[in-house]
Amino acid sequence: MSGRLQGKCALITGAARGIGFSFAKAYVAEGARVAIADINSDRARAAAVEIGGNAIAVEMDVTKQDSIDRAVAETVERLGRIDILVNNAALFTAAPLVEIERADFDRVFAINVSGVLFTMQAVARHMVARGGGGKIINMASQAGRRGEALVAVYCASKAAVISLTQSAGLNLIQHGINVNAIAPGVVDGEHWDGVDAFFAKYENKAPGQKKKEVGEAVPFGRMGRAEDLTGMAIFLASPEADYIVAQTYNVDGGNWMS
Ligand SMILES: NC(=O)c1ccc[n+]([C@@H]2O[C@H](COP(=O)([O-])OP(=O)(O)OC[C@H]3O[C@@H](n4cnc5c(N)ncnc54)[C@H](O)[C@@H]3O)[C@@H](O)[C@H]2O)c1
Repeated sequence: MSGRLQGKCALITGAARGIGFSFAKAYVAEGARVAIADINSDRARAAAVEIGGNAIAVEMDVTKQDSIDRAVAETVERLGRIDILVNNAALFTAAPLVEIERADFDRVFAINVSGVLFTMQAVARHMVARGGGGKIINMASQAGRRGEALVAVYCASKAAVISLTQSAGLNLIQHGINVNAIAPGVVDGEHWDGVDAFFAKYENKAPGQKKKEVGEAVPFGRMGRAEDLTGMAIFLASPEADYIVAQTYNVDGGNWMS
């Protein structure tokens, strides 16, 4: 590692496990200090302990404004400032259109869309007030690039993340804040165990079968791993990305081209 984030302070939502945890480890390895902000505070604490002294755990529910405000304030107090925000927390759901429940839609949009917008807002207010710019990275998905028969709600939420990234990126670059997004494809881990279970139910597949199928369909030849995404997450958080504004990058083994 080359210290590309030396001295930087990052807040990563949903970093107690999966992709966010991998980003936290990679950022610390690059010289940053990181707040692992998650609704699962026990697991966030364990994650911070595993990473070591430059990671702290912060309890945060991105669906609640007071929790967002508290988590941002706590991170600023304990780390000194926030230079980098990764909006990574999200929830997957699937159902045939005629079975979608309003409560499920509201829950997913509260995390994946309102959570992203109002966490961005809270951190951007801090960055603007402090001066000196910053980097915001939103986790979109290939699901945001096109609809899927059984995945209307999650796909729409990730399309909204791509759109919010564009508007926020255009609005905040005047303050030296770069807002960009990463669109992963299919990344193995606990998240996809849940996705697999939805497809087992609705497509009558054996457990693990959907995972196998989507992995074989990736042009690269396998599902992604969280570590496949860390290079882009470090790059977008670094000064090398200063001239990149309002973009969404596919890191998906070739699944989507745009
Ligand atoms: N895994 C994939 O295949 C894949 C593909 C495309 C995009 N993504 C996106 O990448 C990001 C990370 O995915 P992952 O696979 O690591 O997911 P994950 O489900 O493993 O982790 C999500 C984390 O978010 C936390 N979280 C949930 N609700 C929260 C809330 N209200 N407030 C704060 N934290 C909350 C969870 O506790 C968990 O630690 C997500 O935005 C996801 O949509 C993942």
